[in-house]
Amino acid sequence: MELAMVNNDLMPITELGAAYQDRGIFFGDGVYEVLRSYDGRIFALKEHLERFARSLCEIWIDGVDIGEVEKKVVTTYEKSGYDNARLYFHITRGSEPRNHLPGKGLVPNFFLTVNELKDKPGEKEHGIKVITYPDLRWKRCDIKSLNLLPNVMAKMVAEQKGCYEAILVNDAGEITEGSGSAFFAVDTERKVLITRPLGSDILPSITRSIVVKIAQNCGLGILEQNLTPAQAARCGELVMAVTTKDIVPIVAFDGQTIGSGVCGKHTKALIEEFARLARGK
Ligand code: PDD
Repeated sequence: MELAMVNNDLMPITELGAAYQDRGIFFGDGVYEVLRSYDGRIFALKEHLERFARSLCEIWIDGVDIGEVEKKVVTTYEKSGYDNARLYFHITRGSEPRNHLPGKGLVPNFFLTVNELKDKPGEKEHGIKVITYPDLRWKRCDIKSLNLLPNVMAKMVAEQKGCYEAILVNDAGEITEGSGSAFFAVDTERKVLITRPLGSDILPSITRSIVVKIAQNCGLGILEQNLTPAQAARCGELVMAVTTKDIVPIVAFDGQTIGSGVCGKHTKALIEEFARLARGK
């Protein structure tokens, strides 16, 4: 008899719910998105859906109607009643007994959650501390895949060291991005915002693309260039960018104070410009 056990419950395998045999669980075989809303409006929905469609395509999950995904996201968000919310959704290749090679005719699974998002008071003024940590990820970090073990481990080490984020460093000694965020340095002398060029080693972050667009309005040039941790630590201001928090100053980098240890003036200008765009303020 084919059997399964979930925690302490033993059952015939035929009674196992589909969610337990999801390829997302067995193999991380799926892709996801995280969006947020500001004051009752989902921000950058089109951009997130485009990136999601690309991620699906890159891992060969076909036949997903992105228009349907959009409807589910919008309807669920509206039902939540939250002004400021985090929306998470993923699609996995489907459910079946564990086998590396997917079966033919699998139907993808869709999963979505909406939570209220409360900004941490003072975070944008006081900033966050980060550590650097080896980038142990695969060679297609441009795909927003469910395989996040190296990201999770990096984040756990950051927390152990009293930091919020781990800035990942590749084998060549260059910063790639945060474990769950994009990374920028502001060269305050040259008034340029420096960030790694897009490629297969970082996620094409939506927040990154917006920061790049608004930099000019804040009197900053853009330089897409690789940085070592030592080069970054010499810059006057460092910045973390991610959908759920938009722009947050980094005030300590591997224990070294950055700038004057609070949000710098260029980062402040970027935060304000971003808020104008996102909240219409
Ligand atoms: N993470 N880089 C990585 C590795 C990320 O996981 C994320 C986002 C970003 C920023 O991307 P965006 O600006 O599109 O949010 C960069 C999400 C929020 C997460 O995994 O929860």
